[in-house]
Amino acid sequence: MKKLLLLTSGGDCPGLNGVIRAVVKAAEHDGNWQVYGSRRAYCGVLEKPNDIIHLTSEVVAGIHVRGGTILETVNKGNPTAFPAEIAGEQVFIDRSDELISIIKQLGFDAVINIGGDGSHRVSQHLFEHGLNIVGVPKTIDNDLYGTDYTIGFQTAVDTATEAIDRLIPTAQSHNRVIVTEVMGRDAGWICLHSAIAAGAEVALIPEIPYDIEAIKAKLTSRFDKGHGFANIVISEGAKPVAGGVVSKQSNELGYENPVLGGIAEQLASQIRVALDLDVRVTVLGHIQRGGTPNAFDRVLAAEFGVQAFELVKQGQFGFIPVSKDGEIKPISLKEATSEYRVIPLEHSLITSARAMGMCLGE
Ligand code: F6P
Repeated sequence: MKKLLLLTSGGDCPGLNGVIRAVVKAAEHDGNWQVYGSRRAYCGVLEKPNDIIHLTSEVVAGIHVRGGTILETVNKGNPTAFPAEIAGEQVFIDRSDELISIIKQLGFDAVINIGGDGSHRVSQHLFEHGLNIVGVPKTIDNDLYGTDYTIGFQTAVDTATEAIDRLIPTAQSHNRVIVTEVMGRDAGWICLHSAIAAGAEVALIPEIPYDIEAIKAKLTSRFDKGHGFANIVISEGAKPVAGGVVSKQSNELGYENPVLGGIAEQLASQIRVALDLDVRVTVLGHIQRGGTPNAFDRVLAAEFGVQAFELVKQGQFGFIPVSKDGEIKPISLKEATSEYRVIPLEHSLITSARAMGMCLGE
């Protein structure tokens, strides 16, 4: 029997458990592989290798409908920059070679890492250092290059859309402007999808720096015409045309995450000062990462899980299954991490939103 190690790394999202279940089911059906799971990603392997659990179909029964990950995850688990304390000082050290030798000593023939682009950069590094690894694309942000969809994105869009749907009647009842901030890092996929789906008046995304003058003009004209409310959906990574000050915080993978609510509050106060309107801010935050995965994400999770296991079986390491033009196919981790995937300006999502007067910027 060969041994496969499974882990979930980076931020959680709906659909992770579906991938775990699909890999276990495909491996049991194949009959030649046993699947194990590391709790808390590479942290678990490095710090608590005895906590690695055997995943059988009994263990994974019914988990595909649950959000989060039964394997847990951790931000501080990057083996190439692992946090350590040396002489009382907090430093980051490269523990990749140590990690690879622990995995091999434990008898694992291959690893599947379900992660976002930061995690896959790490996987590419580990692959180049001799680890038999395959990736699976997940993140609510949908910002992984080479795939049309990542696991968790469609559910996050549903969650955000439902929230905006709920905010529209309260904005209307109180003659207010409601600014809703959604996640997505430096890509506007969640913002544009949910704003269009809910019928918001304005959608502000990182790809198009927004013009505060155009927003003021739109709100003035809308209120003058007697529509006494408006809903603005803003992506956490959006920025004003003139540069603007939006605070960011670095996470352990070296990425800068926007501070939740920072940009929405900034925009809301600009509108209040300029137009004397009653403005409220709603920050959806991590609610977008929770909840049961929708049917789309459950199916995608199953397809990605099965394909990832096939890649392992065929010894096609350093690859990741992606969803491209309706098909699931493998691309190299190198390609998947070669760029960051924002919405191209010529994408029909942007041209449609612009045609409806929603994207106000350059
Ligand atoms: O990448 C997923 C994501 O939810 C982003 O949309 C967001 O910027 C970030 O993670 C938040 O990270 P954390 O949970 O570490 O605050």
